[in-house]
Amino acid sequence: MYTPMRSGRQFLMVGSVLLLTLCGGPHALDARAAESEAASAAALSVLRTDALPAPDRTGSRPLETLLQERVSVRAFASDTLTAAEVGQLLWAAGGQTHAGERFTHRTVPSAGALYPLEIYVVASSGVGRYSVVDHSIEWHQEIDRRAGLSGAAYGQRCFKDVPLIVVIAADPSRTTVKYGIRGERYATMEAGFACQNLLLEAVARGLGAVAVGAFDDDHVRNVVGLPTGEIPLLLVPVGHPAPAAR
Ligand SMILES: Cc1cc2nc3c(=O)[nH]c(=O)nc-3n(C[C@H](O)[C@H](O)[C@H](O)COP(=O)(O)O)c2cc1C
Repeated sequence: MYTPMRSGRQFLMVGSVLLLTLCGGPHALDARAAESEAASAAALSVLRTDALPAPDRTGSRPLETLLQERVSVRAFASDTLTAAEVGQLLWAAGGQTHAGERFTHRTVPSAGALYPLEIYVVASSGVGRYSVVDHSIEWHQEIDRRAGLSGAAYGQRCFKDVPLIVVIAADPSRTTVKYGIRGERYATMEAGFACQNLLLEAVARGLGAVAVGAFDDDHVRNVVGLPTGEIPLLLVPVGHPAPAAR
């Protein structure tokens, strides 16, 4: 289906993708990932983009300590998160790490480096998509949809007062194009990797979070405004633990 481009940035992104693909450059897999991201962005009407602070890549606490402390947190104080905290959580869930010989690696592995995941945030300021390539949030709704998302997850208590919900979604077609039906399984596995990274990063920052799998898919799709073809796999409410939960 033809989807019109909505911004100069998308035009430039698709142009670079074509150039890299035609040249068969060393980063053809990056071009494919950028193409997927551009398609996802094009399906959303981006209202504004917020650059995120560069992530801290040198945490001071050992992995074993974070693993030992991880626990599902379902009660939150109403304090908001800083842009640095949000950026750190999103980077952990799937941000870029370093350039490899064939493509730019991320915090999560991906079957065939095809990266089927898309990560969204739902906060008081609206709903946005995490741009992995730019480490930014592209906001496509500027109203608070947290209550709607709570309803989609049957009003579970972990949605009460939570400042941020991270939605891990996937477009399995990016993976099934190479691996057939098995690609659907790979996309689900990758959501698990992203989620565990996010949960551990929350511990590292003194935050609390919980993986939520019980929700109505169509309801979440509507609230978040997911592009056609993307399915929600996990919701992750994140915030400062309520005093009793600390
Ligand atoms: C795939 C999956 C789905 C889950 N769905 C929910 C959920 O919908 N609501 C919830 O409160 N917790 C949910 N959890 C969290 C589990 O209940 C929790 O991990 C489990 O009770 C173990 O406790 P712990 O994480 O504190 O160690 C889910 C966990 C996983 C892995």
